[in-house]
Amino acid sequence: MKYIPIKNELYKSNRTNFIKFLKPKSLAVFNSNDIMPTNADGSMPFRQNNDLLYLSGIDQEESVLLIFPEAKNPKHREILFVKETSEQIAIWEGDKLTKDKATELSGIDTVYWTSQFDQIFHALTTEAEIIYLNQNEHLRASSPVETRDDRFRKTCQSKYPLHNYDRIAPIMRKLRPIKSQLEIDTIQHACNITEKGFRRLLNFIKPGVMEYEIEAELAHEFLKNRSRGFAYEPIIASGFNACVLHYVENNNVCKDGDVILLDVGAEYGNYASDLTRCVPVNGKFTTRQKEVYNAVLRVMKAATSMLVPGTLHDEYHTKVGEIMEAELIGLGLLNKDEVAKQDPKNPLYKKYFMHGTSHHLGLDVHDVEERNRPFEVGMVLTVEPGIYIREESLGIRLENDVLITANGPVDLMKNIPIEADEIEALMNSK
Ligand code: GLY
Ligand code: MN
Ligand code: MN
Repeated sequence: MKYIPIKNELYKSNRTNFIKFLKPKSLAVFNSNDIMPTNADGSMPFRQNNDLLYLSGIDQEESVLLIFPEAKNPKHREILFVKETSEQIAIWEGDKLTKDKATELSGIDTVYWTSQFDQIFHALTTEAEIIYLNQNEHLRASSPVETRDDRFRKTCQSKYPLHNYDRIAPIMRKLRPIKSQLEIDTIQHACNITEKGFRRLLNFIKPGVMEYEIEAELAHEFLKNRSRGFAYEPIIASGFNACVLHYVENNNVCKDGDVILLDVGAEYGNYASDLTRCVPVNGKFTTRQKEVYNAVLRVMKAATSMLVPGTLHDEYHTKVGEIMEAELIGLGLLNKDEVAKQDPKNPLYKKYFMHGTSHHLGLDVHDVEERNRPFEVGMVLTVEPGIYIREESLGIRLENDVLITANGPVDLMKNIPIEADEIEALMNSK
């Protein structure tokens, strides 16, 4: 791992919070993710399961975490299983976690090799009445790929059919949206790396530059700062491409007179940042581009001010839609009379602003959440309004990451240039 490990107090306190939600005599099992294959003997870079990571800090494949607060043997109230290393593995892959290192990272004293899991788990099932298992319950999860957790659920339920089972995911949806100070610091660190990447671009973007050359500049800056790289597939979309919401080809030339939309964020220590900025390829917005840009910026500022405890996500999005509606009328894109007659269930502004305003941010870019829970202190959300005008080949989205506090919203990206004049001045400075 390139990052400096986060202090294990984070994982200790996350486990303390987690066990408060368990029913009596419960045993919870968390599996790491697999290393995903590509072709032949190739594999994708490893990405840990975020629930296991949240409760242990263990960023290695073939790991299992058991939490059993009422285990008779106090040593077995928290157990970590990690892959046994060998001389062979050391030669080909380098260091894997030793038991001592796993304890140091996680704060868990009892560490066994993963090969011992079946035997120890079997013994513990005789003491437990409920087994909590995990599943990806994210609203938009749609992968056909079976995870280690999926496989374990099947084998566990067939081997122990008479136990009661419960779900881990609803507990994680309660815990993970509220970020602790160590998590906020890590997200802020990711935002700061993203800032370095963005600033690097302001003198680099010019007519004739390829979108992938911009991607390469960012990747360079992110890796130089101990980031693994992009927190999600970067969108580097010039001209009309900005109107394609999930454009990730990044293979076009940036043309004089176009605006380029950059939805790019670094990850750090597995935490995401999520930024969008739009800049003029030639260093100067046209009057029309600036009008649209400033309309989006006003919506963003108004939306940010609503990120306070007690706000309901859906009501917030509706309110932002109304503000956006007024801006679209001002830009001549919507007609006031038609808006007055519109179907409130299908407002006209959706033609130009067709996505959500905000999502939670954390270990996942679209972090786990309880949609109907009012905003609370410690939540981190993006704010990302946009206006996409296909007939003008112009797409503007602006996106910052914001922490909700008792004293109002704190913008974790406040240092990243956003005013149109500042962007132009920086692009034209030597
Ligand atoms: N970059 C993904 C998003 O903005 O939601
Ligand atoms: Mn986002
Ligand atoms: Mn984004």
